[in-house]
Amino acid sequence: MEIFRTRAEVHNYLNELRSPGRTVGFVPTMGALHQGHLSLIEAAKNKTSIVVCSIFVNPTQFNDKSDLENYPRPIEDDIRKLREVSCDVLFLPEVDEMYRSSDNWHIELDGLDIILEGEIRPGHYQGVTQIVKKLFDIVNPDYAFFGQKDFQQFMIISLMVKKLQMSVKLVRCPIVREKDGLAMSSRNVYLSEADRQNALALYKALTRAKTGFKDKSIAQVREEALDFLAASPGIEPEYFEIFNAETFQPAASKQEGTIIALVAARVGSIRIIDNMILTTK
Ligand code: PAF
Repeated sequence: MEIFRTRAEVHNYLNELRSPGRTVGFVPTMGALHQGHLSLIEAAKNKTSIVVCSIFVNPTQFNDKSDLENYPRPIEDDIRKLREVSCDVLFLPEVDEMYRSSDNWHIELDGLDIILEGEIRPGHYQGVTQIVKKLFDIVNPDYAFFGQKDFQQFMIISLMVKKLQMSVKLVRCPIVREKDGLAMSSRNVYLSEADRQNALALYKALTRAKTGFKDKSIAQVREEALDFLAASPGIEPEYFEIFNAETFQPAASKQEGTIIALVAARVGSIRIIDNMILTTK
């Protein structure tokens, strides 16, 4: 695996490899890689000729300074894991390489960036789109791979790609779960043993919602899920919403196409998010 730390090096290296029929697949990450990330590398390997991963803990998407400072950075482990799955290229820049002091960014995201996660983490999605745009410009991928776990992020990046008429095609990959159902996340390492058990309430709320969705109204499913979370030990629910997965607006009817439930809660001092498609095709 080739490792590059500057924009110019990775950009030039990929340009030299690029040729007709040879596609570049890109997996942007913030490191602390787990099986979920590695499944994105696998998906990229299956679809494209050259697989590039980036590891960059992006300061502009953190609205909490201590969260940024404490974000896990096990870089040697990450490099080993990427080598094990035969990733071709790792882009590993420092903050100065990605940001100049004059950087300004705002993109109109049709209100998608100020609801749910965006309401709780103001500015988060402006920071995400800012760095993803920079990374796309450097790597110039044919395909970019993102996990469904950050479903709102996927919808927002799709909107950015459409608005800026970028040529990259986005691929949404399934959530990877632990055996007991907990969605994999870099932040799970911070859960105490008790919180790790309590955190299962999110997955349980989602699976109950999926079962209940067949016979109950949207409002009833949502209310029961919130009641279930509120009654679950160690859980402080933030939201449980039922959305149209294509428009990313609250679902008004069960006949709207694909419908998704999205949940966020505090488990101890850690925020956990998860989601599940409720409709069966
Ligand atoms: O999903 C993430 O890890 C980050 O938000 C991303 C897309 C790498 C941008 O920093």
